[in-house]
Amino acid sequence: MIKAVIFDLDGVIVDTARYHFLAWKRLADELGIKFTEADNERLKGVSRIRSMEILMELGGITLSQHEKERLANKKNAWFVDYVERMLPEEIFPGVTALITTFKQHGMRIALASSSKNAKTVIQLLRIEHLFEVVVDGTMVVHSKPDPEIFLLAATKLGVEPKECLVFEDAEAGVEAALAAGMHCVGIGTPEQLFKAMRVIRTTGEFTMSMLDDCNAAIKL
Ligand code: G6P
Ligand code: MG
Repeated sequence: MIKAVIFDLDGVIVDTARYHFLAWKRLADELGIKFTEADNERLKGVSRIRSMEILMELGGITLSQHEKERLANKKNAWFVDYVERMLPEEIFPGVTALITTFKQHGMRIALASSSKNAKTVIQLLRIEHLFEVVVDGTMVVHSKPDPEIFLLAATKLGVEPKECLVFEDAEAGVEAALAAGMHCVGIGTPEQLFKAMRVIRTTGEFTMSMLDDCNAAIKL
């Protein structure tokens, strides 16, 4: 029985995944590395420094630790610049209403994002009050696909992993949720997120009858 819902942030609550892509693309262009939206799928959900390493792999380049950190910080400054101009209207349609409905159904609600900017983003969007628990990239050692962040969210909520339903748009995030022993709804395409128990295009499409389906599937 699902008792808690854990949301990823970028690409699930708000379209900040787009800003991450634009900032990485800008850095890739500067470095002369070909970088497409398909390549970007590998960066979703993973930590900033791991994303930098994947970009280096894509470009076939090696860099010193210092240079790697300098460039990752440069990307982050662009990302922060984009999100600071973001408006609460950029929250995906239906998300706030969905969280409110979940709460009316007695669900516990957490946010679990690998981003070190997660708290800034939810403050800018004025949605901190929606989450009982917020765990972010500053609070874990291992980023998704490691289950650490989701297990920490469950512990803080005081629920069992098997009672949690995770909303994720990243392959690494779906892997992390499953590795935590949780159930996962994918936000995106079934081709990409085929390991999730259900895939929908956007978070706001989720309904309480889908929650009933999840509970029925878990019981089988
Ligand atoms: C999220 C995003 C990733 C991003 C990561 C780290 O998981 O999906 O694209 O790289 O957070 O974000 P940060 O804001 O700490 O660089
Ligand atoms: Mg995401």
